[in-house]
Amino acid sequence: MKKKLITSALPYIHGIPHLGNIASSVLPADIYSRFCRLRGERVLFICGSDSHGTMFEIKAKEKGTTPEKIVYKNHEKVKEIFKKFNLSFDYYGITDSETNKKFTHQIFNKLDENGYINEKEVEIAYCPNCDLFLSDRFIEGTCPYCKGLARGDQCDDCGKLLEIKEIIEPYCVVCRGKIEFRKTKHLFLDLPKFESWLKGFVEKSKGWSTLAKSETKGFLKQGLKERSVTRDSKWGFEVPKEGYENKVFYVWVDAPIGYISFTDEWCKENNENLEKWWKSDDVELIQFMGKDNIIFHSIIFPAMLKGSGEKWKFVDRLIASGWLRTKDIKFSKSRSEGLTTEKALKNHPAYYWRYILTALYPENTDSVFSMDFFKEKINNELADIIGNFVHRVISFSYSNYKEIPKVDKERPKELKETDKIFEDITKNFENCSFREALKNIVHYAKISNAYFNNKEPWHKSEEEKKEICFFSGNLVKNLAIMLYPIMPEFSEQVLEFLNLNKEKVKWNDAKKFDFSGNINKSKPLVKKIE
Ligand code: 2FM
Ligand code: ZN
Repeated sequence: MKKKLITSALPYIHGIPHLGNIASSVLPADIYSRFCRLRGERVLFICGSDSHGTMFEIKAKEKGTTPEKIVYKNHEKVKEIFKKFNLSFDYYGITDSETNKKFTHQIFNKLDENGYINEKEVEIAYCPNCDLFLSDRFIEGTCPYCKGLARGDQCDDCGKLLEIKEIIEPYCVVCRGKIEFRKTKHLFLDLPKFESWLKGFVEKSKGWSTLAKSETKGFLKQGLKERSVTRDSKWGFEVPKEGYENKVFYVWVDAPIGYISFTDEWCKENNENLEKWWKSDDVELIQFMGKDNIIFHSIIFPAMLKGSGEKWKFVDRLIASGWLRTKDIKFSKSRSEGLTTEKALKNHPAYYWRYILTALYPENTDSVFSMDFFKEKINNELADIIGNFVHRVISFSYSNYKEIPKVDKERPKELKETDKIFEDITKNFENCSFREALKNIVHYAKISNAYFNNKEPWHKSEEEKKEICFFSGNLVKNLAIMLYPIMPEFSEQVLEFLNLNKEKVKWNDAKKFDFSGNINKSKPLVKKIE
């Protein structure tokens, strides 16, 4: 079995990531990493803060501070929040690092040597009022294709990547003023040279999510254009080329290279070898992200790696999700308005959020979060079906026997279906269909509940009572294992009630009915939401 190198898109940290950011990338990557580790696979899970881009300059201007100060303050804050969400990164780095500068320069120099970097004179948007060259996100206007809101290099409505000059009636986002265009030189990645290789690469790819594949194919169909790799800015990595002293790399050059740099930083700390992760056929590279990041991971980054002529790995599985939208509430990236991640965690334990965000995982289409949905799922499923079953079985067995009694009996026919459900759950985790996996688990819990209720062990003979406790105790253990990737802290607590050591538990144990032994007193784990 190959080792797994798993990455989550690197969140921008000019604000604090909101629940939607967590739902589309870091959480699914974490669930998948935990699932693979539980199966005994060798996993390296990498993420980090994306710290460059013009957004930081604008924020700094607004707040009368420097991009650097914002970056390092928020980096610490984001790390803290991710820790509270129980995200199990093996390494969480930051793109503004010396290692990342080294790899960015190395890959750029190779691309240049190999003839994939062109110089062109272009006209760049400039806001005379703000005295800023405006890149990407600071220009808005009307999309020439759908007439929707064009935001910098991408249309918010139709998702098309845009050249700034194509935007109709562009204006400066900062001051809303009219922008002008100034002539300046920039460097471009010669993407058309990779077109036929990319088509083959995408054609051969396996295990990509539906969204990832369709978006990439659609993009290739339109024909590739050169992409600029430099910006007129002071915040970012300098460009090691004469005549470019006042420019920096475009954030999307050094951001994905961050995956390599963070792995290298982890290797240095852990006495490992970078080549064995990034230049090896024994590794599967699995990348998670939201749908707006697809093209950068499926086309631009692979082209950069290919053009470097070095033997870097290309993405094996690209898992992209839609958006988590909201109905009666706003997720906020800034500190105080809307439902921030901080407020979310203050009001409810992380596993409530992990549960709900998994139930809403926007695998193929966008999904909608509302407080009603949150309440309904937590109260009617997590509390009434899962939490209630766990607590009742453990309390009943504990008060009768202080253990899950050992019984040598054939599994009752009501529980025969569990093998098939376990297989479905396994497949859904493998396919990153986390929402389906959770639905299967809830179904498993319903069957378990029905078994315990219908058997009414409190009215039964000692022998039958023992049998019911044995099978119910095993159902609890199985549920705890299957829920572990989604709600690790919840599962660990249940396993502790059962006197089981999480480190010794394996994924396949969840299909077995062989557990017995002393248990501990349980307590209710899910409080209903008012
Ligand atoms: O969309 C975003 O939040 C970007 N910061 C993702 C970057 S992923 C990368 F580094 F490749
Ligand atoms: Zn302006």
